[in-house]
Amino acid sequence: MRDSTMAAERLFRRQLARATRGDGSIDLDQLQQLVVAWYEDSARDRERTDRAISLMAEELEGANRRLEGLVENLRVQNLRFEAALDNMLQGLCLYDRQDRLVVVNRRYHDILGLPPGTLVPGISHAEQLATEQAAGLHPGADLQKLLAARIARVDGQAGPAREEIFTEDRRRLDVAAQRLPSGGCVVTVMDVTAERAAEARAAAAGRLTSLGEMAAGLAHELKQPLTAIALAAANARRAAERGDTAAALVRLGRIADQAARGGVLIDHLRRFARGGESADADATADVPAAVEGALTLMGGALREASIELALHLAPGLPPVRGDGMALEQVLLNLLANARDALASSRGGPGGRIGITACQAVEGQVVMEVTDDAGGIPSSVMARLFQPFVTTKGPDRGTGLGLSICHGLVTSMGGTIEAENGAAGAIFRITLEPAPG
Ligand SMILES: Nc1ncnc2c1ncn2[C@@H]1O[C@H](COP(=O)(O)OP(=O)(O)OP(=O)(O)O)[C@@H](O)[C@H]1O
Ligand SMILES: [Mg+2]
Repeated sequence: MRDSTMAAERLFRRQLARATRGDGSIDLDQLQQLVVAWYEDSARDRERTDRAISLMAEELEGANRRLEGLVENLRVQNLRFEAALDNMLQGLCLYDRQDRLVVVNRRYHDILGLPPGTLVPGISHAEQLATEQAAGLHPGADLQKLLAARIARVDGQAGPAREEIFTEDRRRLDVAAQRLPSGGCVVTVMDVTAERAAEARAAAAGRLTSLGEMAAGLAHELKQPLTAIALAAANARRAAERGDTAAALVRLGRIADQAARGGVLIDHLRRFARGGESADADATADVPAAVEGALTLMGGALREASIELALHLAPGLPPVRGDGMALEQVLLNLLANARDALASSRGGPGGRIGITACQAVEGQVVMEVTDDAGGIPSSVMARLFQPFVTTKGPDRGTGLGLSICHGLVTSMGGTIEAENGAAGAIFRITLEPAPG
C-alpha cells in the first residue's frame, strides 16, 4: 500500500514538472489535463483490478465448491467403507508398514469379546496385543514372542498365513494374515466354531458309514483269532484229558494271546467310533500309527477283495500336527474309495493299492494313496472335494467321503489334492510338523 502511494506521488511530481514552464510558473490548463488523464488512467487501473479481484473471487468460490464436493464425496465413501467394514463377517485389522493399526472393525471386537472401541487406530501391534491381554486374551503368553512369531509366519509365506486358535471360552477362530504390496499387513479373524462343529458331526456320520462298510472286513479280522481260540481250546482239552499239563498250558497261553488280539481290534474300533479325543490345536499325530490303525480296520476287506497292498513308510517319520484318529479316518476313506474304484474297473477282485509316506522340507510329511483303477472320472475331478459329489449312485455312495477328508486334513493344518497318474488315482496329503 505504501509502495503504491509513493508511486502515485512520484507520478504526480512528474506531471507537475511537465506542466511547469521554463520560468517556473505552472501551466494550469496542462496540469488540469494531465491530472484528468492521470485520474482516468488510475480509474481504469482500479476497474481492471476490481475485475481481476472479482474473477479471482469467482474462481475461489468455484474451487471452494469443488473442494466441498470432494469432502462430501470422501465423507460418503468413508461411510460406505465403515458400513462395509462393520458388516463384514470377518474381524479385520489393517496395519501400515510400521505395524501400526490403521483400521480395525467392530466385528474384530465382537469376535474377540472386546468392548467396542477398545482398539483405536494408531496404536502399535505390540500395544494392541497388550490391550488384548489386559482384556483376558492370550492368557500367560509372552507378547514379544507372540508378536515375533506372528511376523515370522506372515513374512515366511507368499499367500495368507492361516492358523486356528482357541479362545478361553473354547471357541475356534480362523486367523489369516497377509503382507500387502505396500509393506503393511491385513489380518482377518473368523469364528469357525459352528462350522467346525458341523464338520465334526459330518465326520462322525462318515465314521459310522465307514464302520458299517467295514463290517465284512472286521468279521474276517475277528474270525481269525476266534478260529485260533477254538482250535487251541480243543487241543488244550485233549492235553488235559491226557494229563499233559505242560501242553495244556501252552494252548491256554495261545488262547489268551488270541483273545488279546481280538481285544485290541475291538478297542481300536471303539476309539475309532468315538472319534478323536483331542480337538486341540497342539495335538500331534503319528503317521505310521495312523496307517497301522487304518489297516487294522480295513486290511481284512482289502485281503478279501484280493487287493495287493504296497506299503512304503520312510523310517523315522516325525510326528505331525493334528489328530491321529482324524488321519486314520482320512486314510480309511481313501482306501475304501480305491477299493471301490478297483472293484468297478475290474468288475471283480484284484488290483493294487499303494501307501507311501516320506518327509519333505521343513518337517512336513507327504503321504500318497495310489491305485491302479484307471483314475478319477473327469466328470467329478473339478468338484472332487465338494460334498455330495459321487459317481456311485444313491444306494452306494453319499459323496461325502472326500469332503470329510478335506475338512479333516484342513483341520490338521494340512492339504489334500488329487490327480490321475498313468495307472490310476493319486491322493496326496501334506501334513505340517507337530507344534514345538
Ligand atoms: N481312487 C479313486 N479312483 C477313481 N475315482 C475315485 C477315487 N476316489 C474317489 N473317486 C471318485 O470320487 C467320487 C467322490 O468320492 P467320495 O469319497 O467323496 O464319495 P463316494 O465314495 O462316492 O461316496 P462315500 O464316500 O460317501 O461312500 C467317487 O464317487 C468316485 O467317482
Ligand atoms: Mg468315498
